[in-house]
Amino acid sequence: MLSETGTQFFGYYPGTVALITAEHGGVRNVMAAGWHTALSAQPPLYGVLIGRERATHPLVAGSGVFGVNFLPATHARPVQGTGVISLHDLNPAEADKLSRLNLKTLPDAPLALADAYLHYHCRVSQTVTTGDHDLFVGEVLEVRHDPAFYDGQRLFTGEAPVYLGRSSYVKTTQERAVFAPETFG
Ligand SMILES: Cc1cc2nc3c(=O)[nH]c(=O)nc-3n(C[C@H](O)[C@H](O)[C@H](O)COP(=O)(O)O)c2cc1C
Repeated sequence: MLSETGTQFFGYYPGTVALITAEHGGVRNVMAAGWHTALSAQPPLYGVLIGRERATHPLVAGSGVFGVNFLPATHARPVQGTGVISLHDLNPAEADKLSRLNLKTLPDAPLALADAYLHYHCRVSQTVTTGDHDLFVGEVLEVRHDPAFYDGQRLFTGEAPVYLGRSSYVKTTQERAVFAPETFG
């Protein structure tokens, strides 16, 4: 039974966490974003909400591009790490969050995390101020996926980390319920 709470109870998790990568003026970074969504299939658009105080924000705004990466359950710890460490707080000698969390990128795609099962390379097409966050609408220019995590029909068969809130994750299992369209006829 639902009971009314204050408007500040953002209890919308569980959900997946995207790792947003960006690079500008020789500085690169990665941050966790639970607030991300597909926005359009044609043209392909993907959106992420980034607080204006995040170190990642000026990198996305300045370069006009960002990466969206999804890591498997084996990497839940670095996923969380990107959301609790800020580039603002690192001293210049260790000021690279990716190295600190041992996150590697692909040589030919510096915004793609090597261990991701899915990656979108996006170009900012709109920036919408929503309140205390900015919605960066990205035109998806390239998608990469790791076939080891999908079956022949591109159904996800790997284990994904699902964020529950309060620094907690569970992983998806292969027990599934399938509701074929014809069963609704
Ligand atoms: C699970 C999780 C999800 C988060 N989702 C978002 C988000 O959608 N948008 C946002 O601006 N910050 C989000 N954060 C907070 C940022 O990831 C966090 O402030 C991070 O340290 C920012 O890094 P940066 O300052 O190096 O860019 C999230 C944090 C966690 C742990």
